Amino acid sequence: MDKPSVVIREVMLRDGLQNITEFIPTEAKIELFQLLAAGGIEDAEITSFVNPKAVPQFADASQVAQAVLKIKPEGVRVSALIPNLKGALLALNSGMRNLAFVMSVSESHNISNVRRSTEESLDELKKILDLGTEYPDMAVRAGMATVFGCPFEGKIEPGVTLNFIRRFYRLGVRDMALSDTVGFGNPREVKELTGTCIREFPDVTFSIHLHNTRGLGLANSLAAYESGIRIHDGAVGGLGGCPFAPGAKGNTSTEDLVYMFEEMGISTGIDITALMEASRYFKKVKKDVSFSSSILEVGVPVPKGTITKDGFEQKWNIQS
Ligand code: COA
Ligand code: ZN
Repeated sequence: MDKPSVVIREVMLRDGLQNITEFIPTEAKIELFQLLAAGGIEDAEITSFVNPKAVPQFADASQVAQAVLKIKPEGVRVSALIPNLKGALLALNSGMRNLAFVMSVSESHNISNVRRSTEESLDELKKILDLGTEYPDMAVRAGMATVFGCPFEGKIEPGVTLNFIRRFYRLGVRDMALSDTVGFGNPREVKELTGTCIREFPDVTFSIHLHNTRGLGLANSLAAYESGIRIHDGAVGGLGGCPFAPGAKGNTSTEDLVYMFEEMGISTGIDITALMEASRYFKKVKKDVSFSSSILEVGVPVPKGTITKDGFEQKWNIQS
């Protein structure tokens, strides 16, 4: 029997950077992508085609996309976030074919984030899907933000999300991401909702995107795994957060996710030590960056016989 496995989708270059006001040079973003790919990342969100006035960090989205598409190793899947038709067209013109459309299931966050009602966002999605005639190799993932709670409206009932999923499904979408934008979810809720999604829509690929706002990121990922979710978003160093959601904090750290799954015998295909080169590099680019990752802080346990005084390999402690 094959070893169980998960795909960790790396969102550091999108979610991880969107809350950083200082512009990270384009070359550094490309170097980061290379380091992530060298660490074994096989799926990554690499940028965001949004209004540069709203998020200046992604003013170079086209350049990043074009460069990454040139250097990307065979088999690595890259996608870009798009909030509207304009974003889709810009992404397609830059050569991107995997588009990560985003809208919130909460009306207030959708207005704060993309300045549209949810109905308007759904209309936008229809127009984006229509581009499939012109771009038959285009693939659209529909991402739902604030699935477990909204900074303006509080808890969101699962029925609200399920209604959006039904509507996406009727439009032909078969790839969907459930996002806990500000970390409201708990493992019981995550397990129940993801379980319902998988049972009711067996031909949809669902992924989970979690923020570790209140320390439940890993527990929530595990709960989703137990329901059958096999694509889990993470950001190197636990970076990330939505600039249009008060109280937003970082994503679950990729290093911690990889450590958890690998220790459980679930393959991620990622070499955690190689992956850490990405955060080491980013620390050089942005010296005041603050990571949130247990593994980056204390390192991975080393094999028997080579354990250091305190039981951990400290050379990867790049916080100090
Ligand atoms: N990419 C680049 N520029 C865009 C764009 C896109 N996807 N969508 C709109 N624009 C430009 C328009 O061309 C227009 O430019 P102009 O002022 O030079 O004429 C301007 O933005 C306003 O266009 P409009 O359609 O009225 O957009 P808006 O002001 O209502 O903003 C969004 C809507 C979605 C583009 C904007 O709110 C946004 O980019 N939000 C970012 C959300 C985000 O990244 N959240 C975090 C991740 S979930
Ligand atoms: Zn996010």
